[in-house]
Amino acid sequence: MRITTTVNGAVHEVDDVWPGESLLYMLRERMGLPGSKNACEQGECGSCTVYLDGEPVCSCLVAAGQAIGREVTTVEGLATEGQLHPVQEAFLECGAVQCGFCTPGLLVAAHDLLARVPDPSDLEIREALAGNLCRCTGYEKILDAVRSAARRQAEA
Ligand code: FES
Ligand code: FES
Repeated sequence: MRITTTVNGAVHEVDDVWPGESLLYMLRERMGLPGSKNACEQGECGSCTVYLDGEPVCSCLVAAGQAIGREVTTVEGLATEGQLHPVQEAFLECGAVQCGFCTPGLLVAAHDLLARVPDPSDLEIREALAGNLCRCTGYEKILDAVRSAARRQAEA
């Protein structure tokens, strides 16, 4: 089937999509967007998180066909004109990235949190990132990065 969807601000037509395949598979394997990661394919880890019409979703659990006529934003779409988003910069500078497998999903989740709650408490950060698992960092540097990103946004 052919799917017409908007990804990172541009309309795309994707051919030969199998009706049962996931949005994650379509993004990674058919559209050349490998940022979103496939770690569990069961909705457990959050590494595949993207926005679908502005709502964060686990793209491994969304059928590709559900994206027809809708807007998808992946981690690649958070940067604008080659400039990293402040959340992305904060993750880099705080050392919140080790293997990086969880990072795209955490970036989308943190981006969503700071759009809704510009000055989140630690509890709010922990709750917002609760669906995103990281097996490397111990989470402290990730929390530091979100706090830093909030400060950057406030100063911008
Ligand atoms: S790969 Fe989708 S939640 Fe883990
Ligand atoms: S940095 Fe490796 S899983 Fe989070």
